[in-house]
Amino acid sequence: MCGIVGYVGHQQAGPILLEGLKRLEYRGYDSAGVALLDGAEDLLVLKKTGSPDRVGALMRQHENAAHTGISHTRWATHGEVTDRNAHPHCSSDGKFAIVHNGVIENYQAIRRFLEGQGYSFVSETDSEALANLIAYHFAKEPEQPGKNRFTESVRKSLLHVDGTYGLAVVCIDRPGEIVGARKGSPLCVGIGQGENMIASDVAAFLNYTRRVVYLDDGQVVTLSPQDYSITTVYDESVAPVERQVEWNIEEADLGAFAHYMEKEIFEQPKALENAMRGRFSDDCSTAKFGGLNVEPRELRQIDRVVFLGQGTAYLACMVAEYFVERYARIPVEVEYSSEFRYRNAPLDKNTLVFVISQSGETLDSLEAMREAMRKGYRTLAITNTVGSTIARENDGGIYQHCGPEISVAATKSFTSQLVLCAMVALFLGRMRDLSYAEGRAISQALRHLPGHVTQVLNLAEHIQKLAAKYAHFEDMIFLGRQDMYPIALEGALKLKEITYIHAEGYQAAEMKHGPIALINERCPSIFLVPRGESLPKMLSNVQEVRARKGPVILITNAPESEVANDAAEDIIRLPDGGHEVLDPVLFTVPVQLFAYYVALARGLPVDKPRNLAKSVTVE
Ligand code: G6P
Repeated sequence: MCGIVGYVGHQQAGPILLEGLKRLEYRGYDSAGVALLDGAEDLLVLKKTGSPDRVGALMRQHENAAHTGISHTRWATHGEVTDRNAHPHCSSDGKFAIVHNGVIENYQAIRRFLEGQGYSFVSETDSEALANLIAYHFAKEPEQPGKNRFTESVRKSLLHVDGTYGLAVVCIDRPGEIVGARKGSPLCVGIGQGENMIASDVAAFLNYTRRVVYLDDGQVVTLSPQDYSITTVYDESVAPVERQVEWNIEEADLGAFAHYMEKEIFEQPKALENAMRGRFSDDCSTAKFGGLNVEPRELRQIDRVVFLGQGTAYLACMVAEYFVERYARIPVEVEYSSEFRYRNAPLDKNTLVFVISQSGETLDSLEAMREAMRKGYRTLAITNTVGSTIARENDGGIYQHCGPEISVAATKSFTSQLVLCAMVALFLGRMRDLSYAEGRAISQALRHLPGHVTQVLNLAEHIQKLAAKYAHFEDMIFLGRQDMYPIALEGALKLKEITYIHAEGYQAAEMKHGPIALINERCPSIFLVPRGESLPKMLSNVQEVRARKGPVILITNAPESEVANDAAEDIIRLPDGGHEVLDPVLFTVPVQLFAYYVALARGLPVDKPRNLAKSVTVE
């Protein structure tokens, strides 16, 4: 939420910042802005509601050769979406500009104090309080040998701040320097040759460098073109750990696709392959994971697994419950990270906690993980983002390796989480009662999954036609049983996120206890009907809806002999993967495509749905 990019070096800062902002737009797109500092002039601050392109247009009107600058793309928390509330924010003495991601909880007290000291405010944001607080400390701070007065003023200000921040600051008296700091919101430093950068996400600077240092909470960094140094807010020195980013910028480009969501849906066969690569042990018919850091003996003791996540990752947790209980026979609890964090749940001592998060930065999931670790539970994570805070702080984990996911609506990250949850269930199951033959059947089936997903993707044209037919409806219901229930929820979530159609997911039997009251010819239902024991019951539910004139789209992998062509107005027939473990993934792909094509038919901004952001780093 909110993206920050800063540049200091031998090149012109403006275009580099703009390019970085565009790469971080997934973090928020309410407004964008830059502050440029060329050493000779005042700070040039340009900001505008809407996308970074509008700031680009402003930049073209203001010739500027600045070599230092900071920039921001906003997801509004405090203050409406206006030019005035857009970042950067300046101190009222005109010396500092700041970009900030997070929430300063005590900003009103800080603001009152600073107003008493003669500082003035022009916006309603919490961030402006911090800009003025830094100016206040700078004015008080004497020059001291061996100390950077700019860094000191930021550091001392942060000692008075409650809340979260990823921030970057420039100071008119110190051209050629940027000070950044983090607590709760991600920030990393890109180390170049004669240039250094700071950003919320490495994607912002991968065109310039792959050498990166991820800041930890409570750290302050000072960048100049040749150098960078890190301390804690308490002025302890920090020895930075440099890492190399594995993926390259081409992976984050659109290529021939119209939208990132489309690209990411069609990348799923590859993403699933990458998630599974090297993780099957054929001789034992199980899965293996390099980074769990847990002894088999310890895992054998586990008598409960808790899965935590938010958004789509939470729905992956719900599917994990079915997998782990079915194949490993271990009781599972699934909870929103945001609830777990404050609920103080009594857990058995032999509980294993799994946090699922694509970004590895969702604040609620990060804090839930910290809470579980603080209490001494073995806490593992499934995440896609190498170097993310969740990935760095957990006891052990599994990387998804599905490449960068840019579109706000999660797609390939969800199906790759499902596959990894199935593999975790296989792994835990084979330590218990799951037989060699059953383990082998599951691992063989999973290996063939990418091919089946390709077959589902080949239905895109058919699904696009259906989407065009149904795009004018304003309400839809998704229904499923067992592990199709979370997929029904995901189908509804995808649809409401990117098409703004009111959509609900329900457990199909539960429909008769309320939701059926909504059914009429203006409310279509989408039924997820896999082969197997629930099929006859699902077909009865379909009849109940049709009897009330509700249009039905039926998605099934059952043969025509079991689901006739007249069973519903429209049918999407999926390939039969041959094993139930594949169904959650195979039924997800058509609901993703359906949401995507409905959004296209409605002419909506698929990758940047209103009010949403991809990485939610506020509570
Ligand atoms: C946001 C995104 C969702 C995502 C959720 C959890 O709401 O829009 O797509 O599922 O955050 O994100 P995470 O990175 O923790 O998986």
